[in-house]
Amino acid sequence: MDLILCNGIIVTPTEMYRADLGIENGKIVAIGADLSGVLCSERLDVAGKLILPGAIDAHTHLSFPFGGTVSADDFFAGTRAAACGGTTTVFDYSSQAPGERLVETVRRREAQAKAEGAAVDFALHVGITDLSNGLLDSMQEAVDYGVSSFKIYMVYDFGVKDGDFYRVLQKSKETGSLICVHAENKEILTELTNRFAAEGKLSPWYHYASRPEFVAGEADRRAIDWAKSLNAPLYIVHLSDLEGVRAVTQARDEGFEIYAETCPQYLHFTCDVFKREDGRNFVCSPPMKDQPSREALWGAVRRGDIDTIATDHCPFQQAEKDWGKDDFRKIPNGCSGVEIMYPYMLSKANLGEITFPRAVELCAANPARIFVCAEKGSLAVGKDADIVVYDPNREFIVHQENMHSDCDHTIWEGLRLHGYPVRTYSRGRLVYDNGAFVGERGWGKMLKRLPRKR
Ligand code: URP
Ligand code: ZN
Ligand code: ZN
Repeated sequence: MDLILCNGIIVTPTEMYRADLGIENGKIVAIGADLSGVLCSERLDVAGKLILPGAIDAHTHLSFPFGGTVSADDFFAGTRAAACGGTTTVFDYSSQAPGERLVETVRRREAQAKAEGAAVDFALHVGITDLSNGLLDSMQEAVDYGVSSFKIYMVYDFGVKDGDFYRVLQKSKETGSLICVHAENKEILTELTNRFAAEGKLSPWYHYASRPEFVAGEADRRAIDWAKSLNAPLYIVHLSDLEGVRAVTQARDEGFEIYAETCPQYLHFTCDVFKREDGRNFVCSPPMKDQPSREALWGAVRRGDIDTIATDHCPFQQAEKDWGKDDFRKIPNGCSGVEIMYPYMLSKANLGEITFPRAVELCAANPARIFVCAEKGSLAVGKDADIVVYDPNREFIVHQENMHSDCDHTIWEGLRLHGYPVRTYSRGRLVYDNGAFVGERGWGKMLKRLPRKR
């Protein structure tokens, strides 16, 4: 074997147990109580540490053209940061250009990712923006190529109309794909934005005030109702609000295949951040909500009505955030997160707020299952050796200087974490070691995924 990690505690979504784990040719080839008799090139004693599957961040925006600029992390910088936070697979939301067949979006972004050189494996979702001239039919071509998930934006100038969203949902059933939705009510938020602007209310607080709880909750319900009417599966991205949690929980209780993702920023912050002097740095859509929403999200995380944690990593440089210092409409929407997602959730586990198996389920096993990444997301013989060695006794304080993104600030500045990854392996290759990125540009491969079972 190439490497054996010995004496660690293996964490799966259902249990934690002491074992040795062997890796060969990038795969997990053995897990056993005692592999001391097995020949290997390297043996690492990880007593006192946890051995976890690498996380999957199913929601990032790398080199994402948005808000008059492009997000700060390209495929290399974003995946370097991911590796250093124990995330070994990222999904990028690649937006269809007007008139582009969806498979062409995939090919274009695959080529861009290759040119920029991802440091860990990645997969793509395609954000659908244009269904004119029969482009709906090109969903099948993208699925055949290995991309079986698409995003619908109910907001932004590139979002689609309700009828198109409905057609996409219908098509997803034929193609075995999963539709991910950004649910906010565009008409109402535009109305509120214009009203506040007319009154000269333009501080970052009004980003939240123009997209308050009901603007998301109403759209969550509407999107879920359409999926229910078609009996189509639906995945709600970046769920942020109490009413949305209720809608998801109710639909699931009724037996519908509705999935929900939330992000650390909605679990950690409330809308109070928009009152801060640096409030513009927290501007993302949907915005962080009030304390009852935050509590509802934690409740859903604990009882299993949230399936995945992802980050919506979409950072912009400070100078770009500053464009909207005095006018929230000019702030590019999005924040960083890819490097802190797993440490944040694991720290919560370490503090007893959730279990370690639940953290692994939310951050690795569930995204692998929902988005059909058969080779990822769990520690089992035959799976890719995407592995994190985690020290539950390491204290870590987030500072811009110890992050590995290309962005020049982080909304997580000063966050104290209890426990931290000390090593990350991507297909058996060490890519992060005790604070340092040791991987290589271009190591990451694009994952081609099968359609979902119909
Ligand atoms: O503010 C955000 N979330 N920016 C990225 C685009 C999106 O809506 O996911
Ligand atoms: Zn979104
Ligand atoms: Zn997003």
